[in-house]
Amino acid sequence: MDDRNIEQQLDSLEGWQRTHTCAALGPNNLDQEVCLMGWVQYRRDHGGLIFIDLRDRHGLTQVVFSPEVAPKAHEHAHILRTEFVLAIKGVVRHRPEDMVNSKLATGAIEVYVTEFKLLNTSKTPPFPIEDRIEVSENLRLKYRFLDLRRKALADNLILRNRIAQSVRRYLDDLNFLEIETPVLTKSTPEGARDFLVPSRVNPGQFYALPQSPQLFKQLLMCGGLDRYYQIVKCFRDEDLRADRQPEFTQIDIEMSFVDESQVITMAEGMMARVMHDALGHELALPLPRMTYAQAMDKYGVDKPDVRFDLHLQEVTDIVRGSQFKLFATAALVKALPVPGGAELSRKEIDDFTDFVKIYGAQGLAWIKIKEDGWQSPIAKFLSDEERAGLAGALHLQPGDIVFFQAGAPDMVNSALGNLRLKLAERFDLIPEKEFASLWITDFPLLEWDPEAKRHVAKHHPFTAPQDLEILTTNPSQAVARAYDLVINGTEVGGGSIRIHNASVQQQMFDALGIGEDEATAKFGFLLEALAFGAPPHGGIAFGLDRLVMLLSASKSIRDVIAFPKTQKAACLMTEAPSSVDTGQLRELGLRLREKPKE
Ligand code: AMO
Repeated sequence: MDDRNIEQQLDSLEGWQRTHTCAALGPNNLDQEVCLMGWVQYRRDHGGLIFIDLRDRHGLTQVVFSPEVAPKAHEHAHILRTEFVLAIKGVVRHRPEDMVNSKLATGAIEVYVTEFKLLNTSKTPPFPIEDRIEVSENLRLKYRFLDLRRKALADNLILRNRIAQSVRRYLDDLNFLEIETPVLTKSTPEGARDFLVPSRVNPGQFYALPQSPQLFKQLLMCGGLDRYYQIVKCFRDEDLRADRQPEFTQIDIEMSFVDESQVITMAEGMMARVMHDALGHELALPLPRMTYAQAMDKYGVDKPDVRFDLHLQEVTDIVRGSQFKLFATAALVKALPVPGGAELSRKEIDDFTDFVKIYGAQGLAWIKIKEDGWQSPIAKFLSDEERAGLAGALHLQPGDIVFFQAGAPDMVNSALGNLRLKLAERFDLIPEKEFASLWITDFPLLEWDPEAKRHVAKHHPFTAPQDLEILTTNPSQAVARAYDLVINGTEVGGGSIRIHNASVQQQMFDALGIGEDEATAKFGFLLEALAFGAPPHGGIAFGLDRLVMLLSASKSIRDVIAFPKTQKAACLMTEAPSSVDTGQLRELGLRLREKPKE
């Protein structure tokens, strides 16, 4: 073959059939004739021999071109470059003793090539196809098809498949039906903005992409289908974070004639099965449960990471009469003692102070407990009695530091709850390879939205209240029949028992300030269905991407999705979203108010 016109000389497969993958061969295959296909990972020329590491998604096999064994193949092998696509036929041999690579599945053997076909060439890749590479994520996302050739990424997708198949087997065994629901639909409120799709046939009207199949799964229960599941894309236009994507996948489940305990038992059984099938990890059941109130009190957040023992503690009463005005007057004062934390530098404390400002805190009070006394900007305001009260309640010892936050309860909890996580990282308190899983129960049914000046549903408006009377008499105290599954501080799933009675549903809408007319316009079909003999029902949805992230210990949700979007909701490979031509807009009855940015 001639370097100048390789492209014209590419071979076709022509009846060659792959006999093994690049991870399959070992000492059991000695002297066999095999045919492998894959990509050139590395090429090394050494003592007259040419070594190629041939790669496919399964692994690597070393193939050898020898002038003695196959002079023609050896001569042609000089054209081979990284990422060229090859088919080789050859014979399996033992590697010389000193060349055995025990880290590689195929590390005991090599294949002596007798014949090869060049199936395709490759331009030089913009980054090497290796796991330990420092390349900007944007470049990797632009060339995602190359990035996917990296083992780390392929392994995540392989794990994702294993999890999905495990879920399907589990639910199928329990008689759940996998049923698809529409993607072009009407908005279901899950707390985010909708993605809208204009209708050409009905100018001026829009479909919404589902934020979840919530209403459809309830309608399936009204349809008598009893047990439903779906591994399904959901779409939410919200601010993105490390564990959020605008389109993500749920394992969505609904059951009829159940209460909380049956959904929870089914769901934790599924988690145990998935962890066993995916990682060989045995999850001890039943999982612990904690109420929302306990979680907020002790951890400051409703998805506590319980792998380490740092706890928030309320001290409002102890400092009620303090000369430190902030403490004396605040609605809530909480402390976060950190045993052994007095070693923190001023700079570190300043950084933590900036960090809690993200959560609306004005500052961050702290006290270092030293052998020779308390060191702190606020210590001078504390009376002996207050000091004694704090030292006793918080079990303070020399070498500790304690942080304080005072103010509105939501701010105090989220500032200290998130600081707690930062401190755990700083002091290396988080054990690896542990899955601290628990249910959070007894959520408030409603939340006050200060902007809209009305209540909104904490989960969604179809969640049943524990006590209907409280919903009407004292809505802000109403407790939901809802439950979230939290693993290592991530909300992996959430669900509830639903309202299955039309008049209760209307009462809920009333509490949310949605009048009858609005309710009929938006959810008339649901109210109708509830009025025609809806069974009691409930369910749950898991975030599949988040689950894969956890089980693969990935830092970013993008690492467990084949073709993810960036923080700006863009696909760098296809360059979606993109402008459309005016003809297309006209057909949809649309005109842009502003020129799109280039
Ligand atoms: P919820 O809104 O809690 O419940 O969603 C369920 C689970 O989906 C995951 N999740 C996300 N994952 C990635 N990116 C996102 N933007 C994102 N948003 C949510 C989380 C979450 O726990 N219909 C209800 C479920 C029910 O009541 O049955 C629902 O969608 O892991």
